[in-house]
Order: sequence, then structure tokens, then C-alpha cells
Amino acid sequence: MAASTVIDNIGALVTNDPERESGRLGRIDRAALVIEDGTVVHIAPAGTIRADRRLDVGGRAVLPGFVDSHTHLVFAGDRSAEFAARMAGAPYAAGGIRVTTDATRNASEDALREALNRRVAEARQAGITTLEIKSGYGLTTEDETRILRLAREATTETTFLGAHVVPTEYSNRPDDYVDLVAGPMMDACAPHARFVDVFCEEGAFDEDQSRRVLKAGIEHGLRVKVHGNQLGFGPGVGLAVEMGATSVDHCTHLTGSDIESLAGSSVVATFLPLADFSTRQPYPDARKVVDAGVTVAVATNCNPGSSYSTSMSLCIALAVRDMHMTIDEAVWAATAGGAAALGRSDVGRLTPGGPADLVVLDAPSHDHLVYRPGVPLIHSTYVGGRLVHSISPGR
Ligand code: NIG
Repeated sequence: MAASTVIDNIGALVTNDPERESGRLGRIDRAALVIEDGTVVHIAPAGTIRADRRLDVGGRAVLPGFVDSHTHLVFAGDRSAEFAARMAGAPYAAGGIRVTTDATRNASEDALREALNRRVAEARQAGITTLEIKSGYGLTTEDETRILRLAREATTETTFLGAHVVPTEYSNRPDDYVDLVAGPMMDACAPHARFVDVFCEEGAFDEDQSRRVLKAGIEHGLRVKVHGNQLGFGPGVGLAVEMGATSVDHCTHLTGSDIESLAGSSVVATFLPLADFSTRQPYPDARKVVDAGVTVAVATNCNPGSSYSTSMSLCIALAVRDMHMTIDEAVWAATAGGAAALGRSDVGRLTPGGPADLVVLDAPSHDHLVYRPGVPLIHSTYVGGRLVHSISPGR
């Protein structure tokens, strides 16, 4: 029989179990959680369970690991000068993607893998246990395939984003590039991906071009995501609803009718507050979206251009402070909401039978994620019951 571990003396446990009547987060105070074979097998009052191994967390809070449903972690190069110029007043433009594309094409596979592994380790330190990773900085069939193969080494949640921007060599014939993405590039990339995504925005792809790519993805068995309504109002949300997307991401500029059509659909609205932070955009009013009944996620959008951060804690704090979500809503959006944005219900919650993907906070409750902004509160991170990050002893 597999050895069991009890995580005991939990001050406040967030389960996100919809069966529990203790609010949206299914919170249980003074709890114990038992793990066997990487799976949660039992939840009970603190101090009532015996197991082969006991881990006393001293009244700390335990949460489901964060589910980061939007990242671009495979890339090379540095765009800190572009960021500094923006902080001095320059605007953000989608064209910066080409700078990273050049650097990524020129990087060796080993260098890309090493950079990816460093970023994944950083994500674990930030309490992220499930990660989505997009391609989009290759923009040739060979380079996009290479990125997706590497991403697959780190996660099952991979997304083909060949339609990130029109690369320089196609700048005078964007429709030819769309032919490539929806044709041979899709054929090569789809086997390495779960989702197809498109940047449907001024300066990237228009509605018709985006629709073509998404339809080709669906024909190849992929689920749909859309980057939409980031830099201005536009067709992204409408297209996502039309195509039955799993999520539409960014949602910085939403009209009343965008919110209405999201509410009448099963599309998850994923907010990326760190991108709004790093591009000096206004924060969206998530309150209106949540109140309309839309399922909402928050994610880091970790990428070298618009959001170079893995801090889910900061996402949560911004979602509360500047987007008017409650703390419970924002924590749910970073865990169960992220899972919904990936079409998953096994992760983002701690319930018997589910994976023991969890975070121990160096704080008595999840409220401290917002109450103590900028403080590294992730004490330890477990994926499938295995410790993947822990703060140095004695802290
Ligand atoms: O999600 N919106 C498109 N893609 C990224 C930007 C990437 C970049 O600027 O390199 C984003 O913000």
C-alpha cells in the first residue's frame, strides 16, 4: 500500500469544492489533508488523522496550486529597454513580438530549454502547479513546432499561436501568412498542441483572418482560445463566442454587449492584469463581468514584451485592488477559474480523488495575498504530492 502523508494543523484550507457550503472557496478552518500516491484522499478536522508521515504546517493556510492558464514561456532575448521606454511614455505595440521572434529563431534548442526550465522553476516558486504555454515566437513551421515540442516537455497544456503577428518576411502579404498558419504550419503543430489561439487585434490579425485560423484548428481537433480586446474594443470576444472558445484572454476593453454575450456563453473571460500593469493600460472593471455571471480567470501572461512576471500573487492583488473583485473571487479565478479556462475540473481544487497540487502560504489565510502585496508568501508548492518548491529552512 502507498505511504500516506497528512498535512496537519492547517489554519485555513481553501478547497474550491462546490459541494461545501462554506462559500465560494469551500473554506475549512483548522483542517488536515491526507495525500496518498499523489492524490488527495481525505480532508478532516486538524489533529484527528494518523498517517505514515505528518507534516505540521503550524496554522498556515493551504490553497489549491495556482492554475496559470496563459503564458508564453518559450522565448529568447531581452526587451527590458522596450519596457523602460514605455515607462518613459512610449506606447505598447504588437510589433515588439517580432523582436523576440528574431532572438528565438536564432537561439539553440538547449538554450531555449534551459531558459524555459528556469521560468518553470520560477513559476513553482510563485505557487503555480498547472501551466499553459503558447508558441508564437517562431512564426515558421519549423520554429513553431520546435517551441511546442519544448513546451510539451513542461506541460500538457500547450497552445499553437502561429497567428501571433505577421512575421517580417510576410509583411507585404499577410494573407499568404494566414494560408501558411492555417495550412502546413497547422498540420505540423497541431499534434503538439491542445489549443489553437490567435491574436485578434489591430496590428495583428483581423476578424476574418482570425476565423480562418481558428476553424483550421478546430478541424485538427484543437480547442479554441482567443487573444482579444487587449489594446482596444474589437471583434475578439464576439469571435470567441461564435467559435465556442474555451476562453478569451485579455478582455481589457469590453463593451456592454461583449459582457452580455460572454454571459450567455460558456467562454471563460481571462484577465491578465500584469499585462495592463506593464503596458500602462487601464484595468478592466472585472466587477461588471463577474456580476453579469461570466466565469472569470486571472493569469500571468508571462512573456518578454507585455508582462514579464510569474507572480500570480500580484495578479490576485491587482484583480482585487484595481479590478474590483473580492479577495475570494480573485483567489478562485487564479485556481478554479484558471482550470475552467483550460477546460479542466480536476485541478484548481482540493477534493478527494483529485491531484495533490497545492500551495502552503506563509500566512494564516489567503487574504494575506492581497493584504501583503509584494511579499513572497509562497512557503511551499506541491505538484501531485511532490515538493517542488520550499522556502529556505528557518524562515
Ligand atoms: O499576450 N497579445 C499578444 N501576445 C502577448 C504579447 C507578447 C509580446 O509583446 O511579446 C500578450 O500580451
